[in-house]
Amino acid sequence: MANKSKIALVTGGSRGLGKNMVMALAKKGINVVLTYNSQKDTAQAVVAEVQALGVKAAALQLNSGHVKSFPAFFSTLKETLNTTFGTEKLDFLVNNAGIGVHKPFAQTSEDEFDELLNVQFKGVFFLTQGALTLINDGGSIINISSGLARFTNPGYAAYASMKGAIETLTKYQAKELGARQIRVNVVAPGAIETDFGGGVVRDNEALNNMIASVTALGRVGLPDDIGGVVAFLCTPEAGWITGVRLEVSGGQAL
Ligand SMILES: NC(=O)c1ccc[n+]([C@@H]2O[C@H](COP(=O)([O-])OP(=O)(O)OC[C@H]3O[C@@H](n4cnc5c(N)ncnc54)[C@H](OP(=O)(O)O)[C@@H]3O)[C@@H](O)[C@H]2O)c1
Repeated sequence: MANKSKIALVTGGSRGLGKNMVMALAKKGINVVLTYNSQKDTAQAVVAEVQALGVKAAALQLNSGHVKSFPAFFSTLKETLNTTFGTEKLDFLVNNAGIGVHKPFAQTSEDEFDELLNVQFKGVFFLTQGALTLINDGGSIINISSGLARFTNPGYAAYASMKGAIETLTKYQAKELGARQIRVNVVAPGAIETDFGGGVVRDNEALNNMIASVTALGRVGLPDDIGGVVAFLCTPEAGWITGVRLEVSGGQAL
């Protein structure tokens, strides 16, 4: 396979959308380092699924909200690249790991705000900064935002604001990293049935129906709607796409 020597780092690749991205990349022959925060066994099961496709994989622990832990993470990452993949560099970084806080603006506490800020924005900013020397020229960075940065649903003021910040950051990264031929894009999923936010989009029938009713394609999204789009952005066919926000929502709230 043409991609056999390429490597992607996918944060939060153990479950939900991240797992779907990992599998879609692996199906293109791209090797994967995925991270998890707390569920090591779940992450190892994904590694086994990737290896079953004849593609290399490893899982590393990362709390993307804890920037002070990043030097230790990068040191483990370098060791893993060396031992498992026989290389020193990566080609693709997918900043996917995230948490949701569903709280009205008026009731969001400072602690909730800070946790979201750390995981959804500060962590992405400094993880990417720290990864720059590890990413090959000509590589690609994908930042996962949300449809909620474009349209509004009550209860997501803090969460969606962090995603808005990611979208602005993406344009600056695309501009500044263009000289290295590194492309930087946003993928913004609409509401998808995962564990996210306590699994509310999947498990709350009324919410699920409401979202389907305002979506052009008439249903809520599934993880399979997202992974392939991220994998596409890691192919040569996407080589002229940078600084773009690609919303993948089935036409939610048009
Ligand atoms: N689902 C949606 O409707 C939706 C819509 C738009 C955008 N998004 C975005 O898509 C991304 C993935 O969401 P998802 O639905 O796949 O979520 P999910 O099913 O809850 O999975 C979250 C993943 O992130 C990891 N993670 C959680 N907290 C972390 C932390 N502090 N540091 C590092 N990793 C952490 C988890 O690892 P552990 O299992 O080890 O905890 C898991 O791998 C997020 O950025 C989210 O904002 C989701």
